[in-house]
Parts: sequence; C-alpha cells; structure tokens
Amino acid sequence: MALFTWGDELSVGNTFIDGDHKKLFAMINSFHDAMEQGRGSEVVGKVLRNLVIYTQEHFGREEAEMQRISYPRYSAHKAEHDKLIREVTELQNGFASGNTLLTVKISLFLRDWLLTHIKQTDKLLAAALN
Ligand code: FE2
Ligand code: FE2
Repeated sequence: MALFTWGDELSVGNTFIDGDHKKLFAMINSFHDAMEQGRGSEVVGKVLRNLVIYTQEHFGREEAEMQRISYPRYSAHKAEHDKLIREVTELQNGFASGNTLLTVKISLFLRDWLLTHIKQTDKLLAAALN
C-alpha cells in the first residue's frame, strides 16, 4: 500500500515545484513498497540512492530559482535543505552498513519532513516566484 497519496492541498501553485514534489513522493512510495515487498537490500538501497539524488537535484532547482529572484529567505531555506541532506545521508549510511530496520524510519522521516517543508517553506518561495 502506498505510504502517501498526493492531494491538491500540497500544491504550492508553481508548476515546476509541484511536479518535482509529486515525483519525490512517488519515489518515497517506491522505496516504501520495495521495502514492504521484502525486496533485497540491494534493490532497496538502489531505490534509496535514486531518491536521495533526485532530492538533491530538486533542492538545487529551488535554490537556483531563489538566487534568480534574489529571494530574501534564501539562506534559511537552503539551511533546511542542507540539514535534510545531512540527516538522510546519515540514515543512508546506516542502511548501507546493514541496518535494514532503518527503511521504515527513512520513508516516514522523508514523508513528514517534506510535508512540513512544502507547507511552510516552499509555499513562501512559490508565492515569491508567482
Ligand atoms: Fe525547499
Ligand atoms: Fe521543495
């Protein structure tokens, strides 16, 4: 069962950001599904790596937009991105060293982090972009 379903309440009103977020949640669901279906740690690890890469790319796109418009909240917003990447990398390292119990924690953590970040931080950015 999918961990998360996209709903309009998550739209920030910006096409590129919404598109990225939908894809991110789809990847979190894939990761969660792979784990639930008891896929091997090699498969789960690969899905997780792709998820982390896409997250970094998405953050990079938002940050480029912020710089383009000289966004006043750039530093605070980027600090949230950087912190998430640090925390996920730590979880990912734990997973790589054999702690497969971490998978549930990782998917829930990412889902909850994204929900909060989108509703609070990305919404402000989208408003500034529009
Ligand atoms: Fe963001
Ligand atoms: Fe975002």
